[in-house]
Amino acid sequence: MIKNTNRSGSILLSAALLTALSTVGLYQGGKFLWGEDAVPFFKGILRDPKTNGAFTPCSRFVADDITKPLHALRGAVQVLEVGAGTGQFSKRAYVILKDLLDKNIITEFHLDLVEIDAAYCDILRKKFADMPEITVHCADVTTLSKADNYYDAIISAVPFTRMSVDVVDSILKSYVRMVKPCGSLSYVELMWLPNIKKTILSFAHKEAETVAMISLLKDFQAHYKVETHKVWMNITPAYVHHLSIAK
Ligand SMILES: C[S@@+](CC[C@H](N)C(=O)[O-])C[C@H]1O[C@@H](n2cnc3c(N)ncnc32)[C@H](O)[C@@H]1O
Repeated sequence: MIKNTNRSGSILLSAALLTALSTVGLYQGGKFLWGEDAVPFFKGILRDPKTNGAFTPCSRFVADDITKPLHALRGAVQVLEVGAGTGQFSKRAYVILKDLLDKNIITEFHLDLVEIDAAYCDILRKKFADMPEITVHCADVTTLSKADNYYDAIISAVPFTRMSVDVVDSILKSYVRMVKPCGSLSYVELMWLPNIKKTILSFAHKEAETVAMISLLKDFQAHYKVETHKVWMNITPAYVHHLSIAK
């Protein structure tokens, strides 16, 4: 009897220890990849999985890569970030632009954030309240009324592979319209999502839509592409496409 009680006690203790260790591990792992932004983003995924189009926020490694073209900017700089979510890329973009300004490499900058989800917009407005160089536009990017050839660089995290061909086409057209000639457009694509989606949809006879969307993105890239980087430290690993929009 005493032996049995001891054994159940040890099992319970081991289970509690394992749970505690996994929780700490998950928390530290999450912090390593996403910083402090993860919790509100996971809430957003549950609220609207289709518009979010991702299983997790993008990692800081994706943020570092997608913001690379900003280092090359000069003069008075206008940057647009689309699908800002909880501000994972925005924070990185702001730090780079502020550093360029402090070193007199650029003369001024403004960072426009566009986000369609109202709850994320509230988070962004609070987070960047003390930064007058940042404006949050709570809107669908296709309705943003900015002049043609306005932005030096556009960063996009909008989940193209979760959208219809028509929507992706109109978003890409709005980017081409708003970016300056030879301005940069960088966007992220989760590596295996199109193929996973194609496989799932093949059971529902909707594969044609996914194939058409993949081909639209391929043609767009072939027209403007500079380079694609693979970022493995992300869930799931991601491509970051960097394009130069010649007009
Ligand atoms: C994959 S999440 C990226 C969020 C964040 N940038 C990150 O990297 O973790 C895509 C974001 O795009 C936003 N979004 C989707 N369609 C949009 C549109 N048409 N206009 C503006 N934002 C949009 C979603 O609400 C979501 O916050």
